[in-house]
Amino acid sequence: MSGSPGWSRQYDLIASEYAAKNEVSAYNAHYERPATIGLLGDVRALRVLEAGCGAGPLTQWLIEHGASVRAFDISPAMVDLARSRVGDRADLFVADLAAPMRFAADGSFDLIVASLVLHYVEDWVPVLREFRRLLAPGGAVVFSTHHPTADAKAFSPDDYFASKLVSERWDYGSGIDVRFWRRPLSAMTRAIVEAGFVISNLVEPEPTPELQQLDPELDHRFRTQPQFLFFRLI
Ligand SMILES: C[S@@+](CC[C@H](N)C(=O)[O-])C[C@H]1O[C@@H](n2cnc3c(N)ncnc32)[C@H](O)[C@@H]1O
Repeated sequence: MSGSPGWSRQYDLIASEYAAKNEVSAYNAHYERPATIGLLGDVRALRVLEAGCGAGPLTQWLIEHGASVRAFDISPAMVDLARSRVGDRADLFVADLAAPMRFAADGSFDLIVASLVLHYVEDWVPVLREFRRLLAPGGAVVFSTHHPTADAKAFSPDDYFASKLVSERWDYGSGIDVRFWRRPLSAMTRAIVEAGFVISNLVEPEPTPELQQLDPELDHRFRTQPQFLFFRLI
């Protein structure tokens, strides 16, 4: 596996390997997932839409905590993995977050979760407007994305304010270039406000206490350079 795969299908090429790593990786298991779950609150009996569900670790958590879940991903291979994980306990389907979400009527969901997926989309405004449309009164969106300062250091050291398509080499198979959009915090908040949301919480989490024992080096990295940023919107 090498080179830069088609934009919309890059996860198809790495689905199984990504799913296995995601399960145990400090980035996901000891940093991203606990922080996202911390922002969800009580999901019992909530109608939840999960965008970019990947292989379904959060889908499973949502189901096991009493939510009724519809979940989608642009990668058919990822959706297959999620399906083998949760079976028919969730309604899983292939869809593109960047396209109009015709699969659901206005006000269909109490909660929308988008974990580590929005950085694959250039323009957040239409996506967030669709989320707004799909939410019932009193509903909320919870999402995580790359921390803008982490991406600035790596990809835009001379211009923090640039929003741009960048590519990162991941050590999967013989290597794969994964593309995503880096943007400054102000571009995120501008899109959130333009789509009619209010930020009710913004979190820069610390890694779980166990990580200090499990992987002191990564614990240090997360404490000196935040990797992800978390929002709850209403
Ligand atoms: C970093 S993974 C996160 C997966 C999952 N949310 C998790 O935390 O385990 C990003 C996922 O977003 C999906 N994705 C990327 N672009 C997408 C898009 N435009 N619409 C829907 N899903 C997308 C990928 O296929 C991949 O499964």
